[in-house]
Amino acid sequence: MQIKEILRLKPENQEVVVKGWVRTKRGQATLAFVHLNDGSTIHNIQAVIDADKVDAEQIKKITSGACIAVKGKLVESSGSGQSVEVLADSIEIYGLADETFPIQPKKHSLEFLREKAHLRFRTSTFGAVFRVRHFLSHAVHQFFHEQGFFYLHTPIITASDAEGAGEMFRVTNFDLNALPKNEDGSVNFKEDFFGKETSLTVSGQLEGELGALALSKIYTFGPTFRAENSNTTRHLAEFWMIEPEMAFFELKENMDLAEQFVKYVIGEAVKHCADDLAFLDQRFDNENKAKPQNERSEQGLLEKLKFVVDNDFARISYTEAIDILLNSKPHKKKKFKFPVEWGVDLQSEHERYLVEKHFQKPVIITDYPKAIKAFYMKQNDDDKTVAAMDVLFPGIGEIIGGSQREDNLEKLKTRIAEVGIAEESVWWYLETRKYGSAPHAGFGLGFERLVQFVTGMGNIRDVIAFPRTPGNVEF
Ligand code: 4AD
Ligand code: MG
Repeated sequence: MQIKEILRLKPENQEVVVKGWVRTKRGQATLAFVHLNDGSTIHNIQAVIDADKVDAEQIKKITSGACIAVKGKLVESSGSGQSVEVLADSIEIYGLADETFPIQPKKHSLEFLREKAHLRFRTSTFGAVFRVRHFLSHAVHQFFHEQGFFYLHTPIITASDAEGAGEMFRVTNFDLNALPKNEDGSVNFKEDFFGKETSLTVSGQLEGELGALALSKIYTFGPTFRAENSNTTRHLAEFWMIEPEMAFFELKENMDLAEQFVKYVIGEAVKHCADDLAFLDQRFDNENKAKPQNERSEQGLLEKLKFVVDNDFARISYTEAIDILLNSKPHKKKKFKFPVEWGVDLQSEHERYLVEKHFQKPVIITDYPKAIKAFYMKQNDDDKTVAAMDVLFPGIGEIIGGSQREDNLEKLKTRIAEVGIAEESVWWYLETRKYGSAPHAGFGLGFERLVQFVTGMGNIRDVIAFPRTPGNVEF
């Protein structure tokens, strides 16, 4: 039985076996109080180990970090804070730890724990984060399954740059010290494994569209790679993205689905992760109090989650967003670092102003200038904007990016030529517009940004097991 289950039992002196890692040990070799955790729950179980029953030499060896099994009787706890405890009859030591074990029972910084990522799961914080992450990913599949979507596994190795931003990691099996060359000295990729240049995918969308234009509603949920050199608390070089794609959806339905989807998964986490979120809520409070006044969140973590689930998101166009920013105090007082004018890409300072100061709730911004968005977005009749939508969240910024897709073959070809993509390289994508084209739309949710929002963790490196960022690929 896992500790989570044992903690729910009625204590009747029954025999139980508890297996887990020692968080703390108090007392002496003649009578020790050991707190064990097996990761099934945020709560530890206390084992009372008495030298009457267990060899004192054995008891002495147990330290924080050791892994043991305790066989004994489950009784009502005399101590406060827990309902049951185990009175040991015998123990088995699986693995000892010594005083060099890095996760001692004291507060460690997240930076320190990042360097001990192989062991940080054994802290309360990371246990909670990864359990919440699990429930969120389960809720993602549940939501789409219930809505009649099919889970499509799109490829990870690709020859196309879906977002057109050129931030791709190359895939090759060339000997880099002996590259086959063309006559003009350039690398001859015809001799590479796939016979052309290949990379890790930046998005499953293009293949997702092919699926949606037959299965009607699909979603992908897979690893995504971006070689952007941004060392921020919101960017990873390897992250997980969820990309639904729906035939017969236009921008409005796309926004409705995105809003319904995030509310659903957050609601599920609140429902199924009560203990972990209570812990993270407390943690969030402590962190918040330590921040300078002007950076503090007015709401607690749980309060924030409930607020998002219970309130409509604001919906405005890019043009309206620019007007709000132009009329804002920080703009007038020249507090923004980046310029505000129609046509610029919104920077995170602008997004944060809109979400955290102006609307004080999630905001969906639509109809961006076409020049700053990807080639596949549906061109609006004004010839200037595209049917794009970004969902912005408090404390996070952009959590979702999506759009209605260009379904007109001629318009798509023109746009592809404008941005410099060779038609031959996306012939298969274009053929879905040649044969039975249909209005369709979709979006991409950055899974780690969602986990950040729900857990209140400030740095994206702390919500993925082994973060990949520029210069970091340990573990
Ligand atoms: O806005 P993006 O680039 O959109 C796409 O990739 C589209 N193909 C999605 C679609 O329409 N199917 O990325 C989508 C989301 C962002 O809103 C953000 O949450 C997340 O992916 N994201 C990242 N998360 C972590 N690290 C990075 N480097 C990220 N880049 C994007
Ligand atoms: Mg985006």
